Amino acid sequence: MSVPSLPQSRHLATEIPGPGSVRMAGRRAAAVARGVASTLPVYAARAAGGIVEDVDGNRLIDLGSGIAVTTVGNAAPRVVDGVRQQVGEFTHTCFMVTPYEGYVAVAEALNRLTPGRFEKRSVLLNSGAEALENAVKIARSYTRKSAVVAFDHGYHGRTNLTMALTAKSMPYKSGFGPFAPDVYRAPTSYPYRDGLIDKELGSDGERAAERTIGVLENQIGAHNLAALVIEPIQGEGGFIVPAPGFLPAVLAWCRDNDVVFIADEVQTGFARTGAMFACEHEGPDGLVPDLICTAKGIGGGLPLSAVTGRAEIMDAPQVSGLGGTFGGNPVACAAALGALATVEADDLVGRARQIERVVFERLGRLQADDDRIGDVRGRGAMIAVELVRPGSTEPDPALTKALATACHQAGVIVLTCGTFGNVLRLLPPLTISDDLLTEGLDVLAGELAKL
Ligand SMILES: Cc1ncc(COP(=O)(O)O)c(C=O)c1O
Repeated sequence: MSVPSLPQSRHLATEIPGPGSVRMAGRRAAAVARGVASTLPVYAARAAGGIVEDVDGNRLIDLGSGIAVTTVGNAAPRVVDGVRQQVGEFTHTCFMVTPYEGYVAVAEALNRLTPGRFEKRSVLLNSGAEALENAVKIARSYTRKSAVVAFDHGYHGRTNLTMALTAKSMPYKSGFGPFAPDVYRAPTSYPYRDGLIDKELGSDGERAAERTIGVLENQIGAHNLAALVIEPIQGEGGFIVPAPGFLPAVLAWCRDNDVVFIADEVQTGFARTGAMFACEHEGPDGLVPDLICTAKGIGGGLPLSAVTGRAEIMDAPQVSGLGGTFGGNPVACAAALGALATVEADDLVGRARQIERVVFERLGRLQADDDRIGDVRGRGAMIAVELVRPGSTEPDPALTKALATACHQAGVIVLTCGTFGNVLRLLPPLTISDDLLTEGLDVLAGELAKL
């Protein structure tokens, strides 16, 4: 693994935020729409490895990766080299006008890396939401049906169709409707909270799938349903890992009913969960979706997304039915080739598993001593704690917010999520050192003890 140029140590040069960030906040307030929020009040100047340095020289431990994007580390050497070379050759021609090799090479890599040993095709786009939009278009074109189902606690983006797919109203949907029609919602498997209703429902994924399938059959009807859109581990919804057996049972139902199974691996993809894709964790042979949406980690920080899947489904839309001016931009493709080479050459799948061991061990100890930690869950370098009122299962969003803020003040970037706003999530870059990771977790534990 290459050594990042930025010192890999936490350092507080000023209070958080420092004077430089405070000045930027003043300019921002007069220039940037208030609807765009930021988790931390500091402005970034440099980032590498497991550190983000702000404009005041504070160095923060990065346990967020810009929301699961810089999986290969910030400004990763192979990404930077690829981008530098490409940007000097050409920055854009539009793949729909004069195509170029980088796009084809990324499609080839995705077809090779994604689950399933059959002929595949890919289309490249710009954002996760755009990938989801296109996956739905492709599934509708293939099945000639229109209904789409998404899940409780699901998050798929902020465009009109993806707002319809997303579950949580505030802040993602409230006031922005009406939403795209023919989108339905079904219950998912949420072991921690399902177990409160019925122990078996919490632990037996097939039971949870029966509940889901009942809704699909009775409230939508397989003959109307083009696609089912699901995150194999829900991200914004609270890092919810479904009970074993849930996803395979739902997939089997889709296969029996000509419903396209779309896995949204925007947050979970590219080694994040200790497998190249989170679907691979399901069952002995892994789960093979029909279509898989990727974004975030694919571009090493540059905007790129994709839909990859079975050739016969992907090729259903008419020629010129898919595309976009910037989709598969050559600079983003060069970055992606650098990022994917890094994941494979540096065995970042293995690194995510090591991170999982370190984080689970530390958070497990913390949970044993603190009854405000209701659940510790996740996989690989995607692990969260669900915070509850002491000795109960009642969500505690105020504690979660206070803990996140305290970590930020102490120089550790952590993020929150969850339908109830009570989940503190960790998404470190896979290039973080064990020392920095352990220090970040110690800060988290110390700050929780003070609250
Ligand atoms: C699972 C999932 N799907 C889709 C999206 C939307 O991606 P983007 O913000 O790139 O549009 C996200 C973003 O957080 C996500 O986590």
